[in-house]
Amino acid sequence: MINIAVMGYGTVGSGVVEVVNTNGARINQRIGEELNIKYVLDLKDFPGNPVQEKIVHDFETIIQDDDVKIVVEVMGGIEPAYTFVKRCLLAGKSVATSNKALVAKHGAELLSIAKDHNINFLFEASVGGGIPIIRPLNSSLTADEIEEITGILNGTTNYMLTKMFYEGADYDSVLKEAQANGFAERNPEADVEGYDACRKIAILSSLISGQQVDFEDIYCEGITEITVEDMKYAKAMGAAIKLLASSKRYSGNRLHAIVAPCLLYPDHPLYNVNGVFNSIFVHGNVLGDAMFYGSGAGKLPTASAVVADVVDAAKHLNRNIMTMWKQEKLKIEDKAGSRR
Ligand code: HSE
Repeated sequence: MINIAVMGYGTVGSGVVEVVNTNGARINQRIGEELNIKYVLDLKDFPGNPVQEKIVHDFETIIQDDDVKIVVEVMGGIEPAYTFVKRCLLAGKSVATSNKALVAKHGAELLSIAKDHNINFLFEASVGGGIPIIRPLNSSLTADEIEEITGILNGTTNYMLTKMFYEGADYDSVLKEAQANGFAERNPEADVEGYDACRKIAILSSLISGQQVDFEDIYCEGITEITVEDMKYAKAMGAAIKLLASSKRYSGNRLHAIVAPCLLYPDHPLYNVNGVFNSIFVHGNVLGDAMFYGSGAGKLPTASAVVADVVDAAKHLNRNIMTMWKQEKLKIEDKAGSRR
């Protein structure tokens, strides 16, 4: 049995529990043994919810339990997430997270600790929610020089701009709607000022360049200034306004990254990406163009990516155990051989 702990029982945390409950049999089959959520860390209690029996309020319970090999961090924000995740990795526990603020700021350090301990720090859900993009960049596309990544990386603002474009709705009313639908960040500033998309493109830029790209260094403009009038002008020009996050490679390993509202014409591959959906366009020097599209936010799509990371970490753990077992077996055989 592989025991895991889930830190945070908000939208994504409850989604993780739901995904494990719904697809448990399939997940266990893929790992080769049973995946068990042993603890759920949250400040609150959830009386009447079956999760209550797993609830703990103190991180020390998780860090001190050697049976917990993988930890899911879905609390969001930098602290205490950073301290908890770092302690988990230093204690030899793999971590899967959806926390883009954490990955954008401390990803390089956390990856390096994980590497030193031969464990995993995985963050597929931190960009594009349920859309696979981190894993493709780290595996299927590693033969390429990625020359461009341009995406609609924030579902809330894309939903708002879509409503403003097609329904002539005004900024304030669509923001309220996005918040009511639950996909806006707790603080909508992160979405509407472009900071959320900026952190995501910083993560992607770091991956394609192999060097830490700080989101503070990226020009970032959100959608707060977009008016009903702007939309009318865009339409009259035959264009739509989309919040794009883009990273392009110039000579050598130099990148130019930007987040800003842009005019897109119907021949652009991202023109038809509407509503809460995200899409990421990638251009590789040998691959050419590729597009990724899907649910960029929301409870279950995001949780699906987090649980996929847990499955990967569990498989890695099992491979390590097999290797250790084989090494022990060889040592025993060597000793027996030298006695003969
Ligand atoms: N608020 C984010 C969005 C959630 O709207 O895309 C997913 O990161």
